[in-house]
Amino acid sequence: MSKLWGGRFQKETDSLVDDFHSSISFDSRLYKYDITGSIAHAAMLARVGIISLEESETITRGLQGILADIEAGLVEFSVSAEDIHMNVEQLLIERIGEVGKKLHTARSRNDQVALDVRMYLRDEIDAVLELLGQLNVTLLDLAEQHIDTVMPGYTHLQRAQPVNLAHHLLAYCQMFYRDMDRLRDCRRRVNVMPLGAGALAGTTFPLDRAFVARELGFDAITENSLDAVSDRDFAVEFAAAAALVMVHLSRFCEEIILWSTSEFSFVELDDAYSTGSSMMPQKKNPDVAELIKGKSGRVFGDLTTLLVMLKGLPLAYNKDMQEDKEALFDAVDTVKKCLLIFRPMLATMRVKKDNLARAARGGFTNATDLADYLVEKGVPFREAHEIVGRAVAYCIERAGNLDDLTLEEFNRFSPVIDEEVYSAIGIDHCVAARKVPGGPAPEAVRESIAKMRGRVGLL
Ligand code: ARG
Repeated sequence: MSKLWGGRFQKETDSLVDDFHSSISFDSRLYKYDITGSIAHAAMLARVGIISLEESETITRGLQGILADIEAGLVEFSVSAEDIHMNVEQLLIERIGEVGKKLHTARSRNDQVALDVRMYLRDEIDAVLELLGQLNVTLLDLAEQHIDTVMPGYTHLQRAQPVNLAHHLLAYCQMFYRDMDRLRDCRRRVNVMPLGAGALAGTTFPLDRAFVARELGFDAITENSLDAVSDRDFAVEFAAAAALVMVHLSRFCEEIILWSTSEFSFVELDDAYSTGSSMMPQKKNPDVAELIKGKSGRVFGDLTTLLVMLKGLPLAYNKDMQEDKEALFDAVDTVKKCLLIFRPMLATMRVKKDNLARAARGGFTNATDLADYLVEKGVPFREAHEIVGRAVAYCIERAGNLDDLTLEEFNRFSPVIDEEVYSAIGIDHCVAARKVPGGPAPEAVRESIAKMRGRVGLL
């Protein structure tokens, strides 16, 4: 079939060009949004008297038929029809004839593609939000089981102070909750209706843009026709939010990988979420966690692709912008795939509580607590720090812990230390005493869980 825009051309497009500029191989995934948008557009054209009600109904029936056939796998798209918008329009004209040629009145592919991508992204944001919400529920359930699972907290990957696993898991809950917040915020700017902007300068027809917005569930209409067709900020915002989700997943995965080593031995991944080696029979590898880390790079790349694509573009639409889709789709697919597999991997992970507790008891994680104890006895903190430092050095030499020292030994470092020191620096007490809001004490953790559950419940 000849091109829908063929009027001013005397030659056929070179087949290399058809292949090169066609986007149907990847934008066909927008078909549902394209058709739904066109149905609303046709209804609006009839509403304001640009086409008749009958024509609009014929167009709508034709489009519904195409939608059903695409869904049934009966439609083969054509590369020479370039993209999903012209494939659908061409099919419509083939099926309903002359009336089909009226659909594109007062519309350009430039506002049409902006509409389709916004509708697509709106749904995908909801899907990602759902996955993040489920992940947070899993994290909260796990946290509840591990309020008393004491473990070392780290800085510089060196044991620092004792916390519990619940507190550690809740840190990720916070990250994923912020991700949800960002996505909801981004959705507000996605959910603005661009149709009516035309190619760039609006249209001479008296369109009812608000009607189309209402029909398609948009909260508002775009306010400048040039901006409407050249804005992809919303895609960048999504990719940035998705990139942060991937950063959070990636950090969590790295911890799970470390914790699964025999050197740490804090957790064991379920067989169903691990893989073996083709050569080494003993191996059980955390491939899923590694791959999630690896895939984070794709999403950072997608974000960069979008930014670079936009940075030198003059107003308004430029074909460069067709490059937004593969990057955006890849970001959507990758973040969804990773969230989908991460949750069950985490939920089935076996926690080796005893090893966590043993690690928390070693490494002098209670040294700060001993200093704090001295402060309570009236020693200035800086001096207490020095005293405990010396006591630690003494213990390192004897390969013991602070709580192994006798009172007599303690008194060599400070005369103010008495019997109470042993309970003050007991690991469980060290955690329990950190009652500050946002801290790891069991009661503070329970409060955090309740607060977060309330938020997740609101979704
Ligand atoms: N396939 C195009 C894209 O994704 C649709 C818009 C084409 N507009 C144009 N003026 N060629 O960007």
